[in-house]
Amino acid sequence: MLRIALSKGRIFKETLPLLAQAGIKPLESPETSRKLILPTNQKDVELVIIRATDVPTYVEHGGADVGVAGKDVLLEYDSNELYEPVDLKIAQCKLMVAGDPNKVIKQQRLRIATKFVNVARSYFASKGEQVEIIKLYGSMELAPLVGMADRIVDVVDTGNTLRANGLEPMEHIADISSRLVVNKAAMKMKYQQVKLLIEQVATAVG
Ligand code: ATP
Ligand code: PRP
Repeated sequence: MLRIALSKGRIFKETLPLLAQAGIKPLESPETSRKLILPTNQKDVELVIIRATDVPTYVEHGGADVGVAGKDVLLEYDSNELYEPVDLKIAQCKLMVAGDPNKVIKQQRLRIATKFVNVARSYFASKGEQVEIIKLYGSMELAPLVGMADRIVDVVDTGNTLRANGLEPMEHIADISSRLVVNKAAMKMKYQQVKLLIEQVATAVG
């Protein structure tokens, strides 16, 4: 059995056509099914549906052999234990520092609200800036509006969410797309199956 970890929503939707090119089609949709393990048309391939931020954890610890994760999530997870053989070029966005550039900042250290605490810490450290990091799990844009933070670190695509909340993109940290990630043991133990999947998916990406 080859187990593939995906998150609901954007990653599932954008990965489906790539899996279809590899001949893999789920028999149920995660949007309508309550099942966490979805069978596919290939009896030796199944999908597990988990939170986007949990994909690297499942793949590293062998809960899944292969997964699809955003580079933002992978940068934050920061593991040497995962292979990252294919850039799927889906769910493209940018990791950015954003805020209200007109707001006067009184205290010495910038307060940064983000769910990417490791990325934020190392980004500001690389600029020699000491900052206070405030960990959030979502809706980072709210933190500057209520005076809880001076900046956020988040993914930006169209910029609509920032604009709608009176914020602007300020500094570019990284270009983001989703990656196929592979468990190291699965790469050895299920070599033929994994190699074929990597090749087919890479061809589908083009
Ligand atoms: P979780 O449910 O674990 O909090 P999430 O809500 O970030 O995760 P998604 O919104 O499905 O999950 O995002 C999955 C991935 O898609 C992100 O890790 C990022 O790489 C990318 N992404 C996020 N927002 C956008 C966007 N607005 N446009 C394009 N890609 C995006
Ligand atoms: C993400 C992210 C931003 C937003 C950026 O959130 O956390 O809030 O998308 O996208 P934009 O620059 O195009 O506005 P989420 O995945 O919750 O939002 P979405 O799927 O509704 O875009």
